[in-house]
Amino acid sequence: MNDVRIDIEVNGIRYERTVDARTSLADFLREQIGLTGTHLGCEHGVCGACTVLVDGRSVRSCLSLAAQAGGTTVRTVEGLGDGDGLSPLQQAMSRHHGLQCGFCTPGFVVAATELLENSAELDDHDVREALSGNVCRCTGYHGIVAAVLEVARERQPATGKAAE
Ligand code: FES
Ligand code: FES
Repeated sequence: MNDVRIDIEVNGIRYERTVDARTSLADFLREQIGLTGTHLGCEHGVCGACTVLVDGRSVRSCLSLAAQAGGTTVRTVEGLGDGDGLSPLQQAMSRHHGLQCGFCTPGFVVAATELLENSAELDDHDVREALSGNVCRCTGYHGIVAAVLEVARERQPATGKAAE
């Protein structure tokens, strides 16, 4: 066993933990700090269910090591809302029936949040391309894309950010 000490901020809370050097970021989030909203599907970087934001960029946490995430700021699906409330995108996903079993949903919401935070304008093609690395076996994707486009339309034009 090769232990590594890490200092990491997750959803605004700082954690100092000792991890095995082989521990994935996904396992760290789920098993060591109890954030089970990050789902594990393929564990091979294919399905996108494990997507989290590391310093604002989407990352497959099944392929990332917790030790490498030391010193970074991580946001998981649990950290996207405002306190106990859902984010505008999470609310739109619900309205547009963008989820059925919900297994893929955390990864889609995280990846789409990155897209919305970094794009001034979005059309259907942009959203489908940006989310092409996330797999959903239930919805047919239409409701997911509709939800992202609705939030994109409602953003403040001056900032490119979702309306509060
Ligand atoms: S569980 Fe990480 S990409 Fe599928
Ligand atoms: S809602 Fe079931 S896999 Fe996407």
